Amino acid sequence: MAALSSIHCRSYSYSPFLFSSSSSSINGQQFQRINFSSSGISKRFLPAKLFSQSRKNSYHGVVLMQDGAVAMPVNPVENEASFKKVKDGLLSSITSAEELKETAGFDVNKDESTVIITVVGASGDLAKKKIFPALFALYYEDCLPKHFTVFGYARSKMTDAELRNMVSKTLTCRIDKRENCGEKMDQFLKRCFYDSGQYDSEENFTQLDKKLKEHEGGRLSNRLFYLSIPPNIFIDAVRCASMSASSANGWTRVIVEKPFGRDSESSAALTKALKQYLEEDQIFRIDHYLGKELVENLSVLRFSNLIFEPLWSRQYIRNVQLIFSEDFGTEGRGGYFDHYGIIRDIMQNHLLQILALFAMETPVSLDAEDIRNEKVKVLRSMRPIRLEDVVIGQYKSHIKGGITYPAYTDDKTVPKDSLTPTFAAAALFIDNARWDGVPFLMKAGKALHSKRAEIRVQFRHVPGNLYNRNFGTDLDRATNELVIRVQPDEAIYLKINNKVPGLGMRLDCSNLNLHYAARYSKEIPDAYERLLLDAIEGERRLFIRSDELDAAWSLFTPVLKELEEKKIIPEYYPYGSRGPVGAHYLAARYNVKWGDLGAEQ
Ligand code: NDP
Ligand code: BG6
Repeated sequence: MAALSSIHCRSYSYSPFLFSSSSSSINGQQFQRINFSSSGISKRFLPAKLFSQSRKNSYHGVVLMQDGAVAMPVNPVENEASFKKVKDGLLSSITSAEELKETAGFDVNKDESTVIITVVGASGDLAKKKIFPALFALYYEDCLPKHFTVFGYARSKMTDAELRNMVSKTLTCRIDKRENCGEKMDQFLKRCFYDSGQYDSEENFTQLDKKLKEHEGGRLSNRLFYLSIPPNIFIDAVRCASMSASSANGWTRVIVEKPFGRDSESSAALTKALKQYLEEDQIFRIDHYLGKELVENLSVLRFSNLIFEPLWSRQYIRNVQLIFSEDFGTEGRGGYFDHYGIIRDIMQNHLLQILALFAMETPVSLDAEDIRNEKVKVLRSMRPIRLEDVVIGQYKSHIKGGITYPAYTDDKTVPKDSLTPTFAAAALFIDNARWDGVPFLMKAGKALHSKRAEIRVQFRHVPGNLYNRNFGTDLDRATNELVIRVQPDEAIYLKINNKVPGLGMRLDCSNLNLHYAARYSKEIPDAYERLLLDAIEGERRLFIRSDELDAAWSLFTPVLKELEEKKIIPEYYPYGSRGPVGAHYLAARYNVKWGDLGAEQ
């Protein structure tokens, strides 16, 4: 097998000499290790594969180490021969380029293949704000394949130079290595091109195809289309891209931005229409919250810490809160927002996805299908949402410090009599053995007093707590709470009770705090970076499968219809406030206090 030199951040070189072996002793037993750590080979895939191969070949005692190495016990008097036999046996289990690709995510022919990312709707807000900067960040970190090109496509007339100029204004450098940023930016921009065309013109996409081929130069072509356009033109663009600009010899994938419909029917129609032109495994439905670092860490926290997993059920957890708030309104996006509202914009996707990940059973493995199978089970186990378990609000104008903050309906693109909620709170329940009776409270709002996204897990009271009298009458103050602050200022902290130092017995509530900025010097990647890289690598774990989407819409569609048919009037709250008081009554009905509004957070 050829030794390949390009080691990207998640691409994996294979060469026999990249494996090293060493010996170590565990509880007095000598172990020989096959180390991968310096080889650039995925710790995610390869050691696990070798480990399972060792079991198949009956190499007894082979263990998968925490650091990703594979180790086997050896007798000190034996020479290395027996270890070599096992090592060769294990490594020879990776037989073909295809298997290496499947196992380690590594493409032996990578140098001969190209990846072109076409941003459809490149003139728009999302492309400028998120997609191009994320692509640049990946390039900056050497994560993109050797032969990659970025194409912008939209109706606006632009030259390559104008696109580069537009894009350059939003690119930023990683704070940890700024020195060669300007150089890197120039190199990246040279890889960016633009083509103008209609979204429903096969002819225009044929012209795009021609340009893409010129860049591919006869290599194996892989194409990723990012649909960063309004949903009413998704199908046209997919039809044209698949008919006229699909890869002839590599993969073609399409990232679809939300909203995926606005209810069960429209979502099913969208999926059906997409599947006329694409297979399910070509569709990457993005929910960028799944790409956020702390959401990604949720499963690690739970499944790799013995102290949490046993507590993760109705037996110990009193309620779970999923909170999203923004301290600005719908400024600039009122037209889009009025058609959707906060429940469709945030709850049905971002918060529900977090809930599903939080509440799922242990998946069989970390494979995309195993994880998505467990998430969908959670969604299907959820109790229909009752109208009385939902509170909606809309922000109104407010004057503070001499500044007038607008009402939602002051936006010119929003009808004056709009009832669209900009705030919602809801109580949800999962009717399965693990979560029976535990309220999952969601709250999402725009134009509130703070910007945050967090998960709060409030634990039950300690039965017969010896120290109850030290807490006074408010027992809630004494309960443990685990807070996963997704943003801003990422952190995971656990509220515990402790004694105030001194001769007396005064109790205090303190935080055991994993504060990311203090613990890690590396900047946290933007969610779009992770998701774009996953889509390029064909990793589907963080994308929404169609059955997940169906289940999510089945849960929310009835209550959305009821709200709209009954023309429920939202509770008005001042811009910049803590939201409608109705949210407190809703929580109180389930004996819950919102954790984000407490005196101590
Ligand atoms: P824009 O409204 O900015 O639209 C993107 C581009 O699509 C525009 O530059 C325009 O390009 C073209 N376009 C806009 N309206 C129409 C129309 N009616 N008919 C044909 N083409 C049109 O969208 P965003 O960039 O804000 O968002 C893109 C997608 O991402 C949307 O689906 C949105 O819901 C989703 N999204 C956006 C987020 C954001 O923060 N902006 C966040 C999460 C999701 P041109 O005229 O040059 O063809
Ligand atoms: C988008 C919503 O999906 O997420 C927006 O459409 C919202 O309304 C945005 O502002 C929030 O994303 P983030 O990553 O800034 O929290």
